[in-house]
Amino acid sequence: MAKHLISIDNLSKKTIEDIFNLADSFDKQLNKGHQNDLCKGKIMATMFYEPSTRTRMSFESAMYRLGGSVISSADTVTTSSAAKGESLADTIKVLQHYADLIVLRHFKDGSTLLAAENSDVPIISGGDGSYEHPTQTLCDLYTLRREKGEIKNLQIAVCGDLKYGRTVHSLVYGLAKFGATIFSVAQKDFDFPENVKKRLKSKYGVVIKNFTKLDEKMNSEDVLYMTNIMQSKKSKSAKKILKESDELFPRIPIEYFDAVYITRLQMERMQGIKSNYKSLMSYLVNKELLEKAKKDTIVMHPLPRRYELSYDVDHDKRAAYFRQAAYGIPIRMAIIAMFLGLVDFDIKLEPHQQKGIIMNEQCVNTNCITAGEENVQNKFLKSDDEENMYRCFYCDYEKVIRV
Ligand code: NCD
Repeated sequence: MAKHLISIDNLSKKTIEDIFNLADSFDKQLNKGHQNDLCKGKIMATMFYEPSTRTRMSFESAMYRLGGSVISSADTVTTSSAAKGESLADTIKVLQHYADLIVLRHFKDGSTLLAAENSDVPIISGGDGSYEHPTQTLCDLYTLRREKGEIKNLQIAVCGDLKYGRTVHSLVYGLAKFGATIFSVAQKDFDFPENVKKRLKSKYGVVIKNFTKLDEKMNSEDVLYMTNIMQSKKSKSAKKILKESDELFPRIPIEYFDAVYITRLQMERMQGIKSNYKSLMSYLVNKELLEKAKKDTIVMHPLPRRYELSYDVDHDKRAAYFRQAAYGIPIRMAIIAMFLGLVDFDIKLEPHQQKGIIMNEQCVNTNCITAGEENVQNKFLKSDDEENMYRCFYCDYEKVIRV
């Protein structure tokens, strides 16, 4: 059975570390100008139902650098039979005979899982709706490892559109896996969705509190939260910490973070929100903010950027986002080699989810693939903690169902 990459949670921490080690060796080869023909005779298909610069082109470049071939549909919605109304499931059933591996980006949540159900070759998610973007997270975690050494115990501010952004959803699971401390910074209504907070809590025991602004004044509840975090690190006595945090941290301090991960507002997913980009934005990473940050705090962004990240930061060596995008090549070379079974380390893939229970119920998420495709049966998984609570097999959204 083919192994698929749908969620960062398909990969154990050990497998992620194996990917990083392999990426390191590919990077060294690239820097020495060595040729590699590991994927000679293999074909990768890229099917992109949404725009992309980095994900698609770095995957394609990675495959060429491994000596393989690429067939590409860069604008699948208008140039493939999707324009004639063909379903995703049918498209994948055909494409699996044309390629050894399929990289898929789609605008619906859970679409890559549906594709995986219909494919005998590996499906690699290139981002699905607001659900996840696991290969971006591998680039992000690799950036942290390259730039900061260990990921464990790093203090990371994850900022911007935490509701609709898929990169930050995968990212927080990945950070939790590696034991980093996560701070979320998002304006009201752009905080992490409930299903993400739930998975973080149930799988990793992580509860994150949202701050509405970087470098903002903190209220007493915020101070208590920061205190708890510091206390859990068992560094100082609670009383001392409380006193210090009151004095030192009257705001969520930029100087507290090892990395600031900023994202753009995903305007394309905000149907019905009639506002302009700038008026929805209360966060900005600029030169002035960085002046207050630590000398080694890095700024990350999955790109593309809009107004949330000022161009005046680019010249600063702490601006890591273009390096982050460049790491996409060795990381995606490693992903391709691994999923094609061409490297000899043991791939420990955690199965995505068990089989869902087929139910005659609609998913509550209007952007779920089950709401977009005909002939997809709605399936749910029972939530462990609450009676009558189920979550959609494809997109994780919860629903109360009385059976
Ligand atoms: C991201 C995406 O598509 O989710 N881009 C990327 O893959 N680097 C982020 C975004 O579009 O904002």
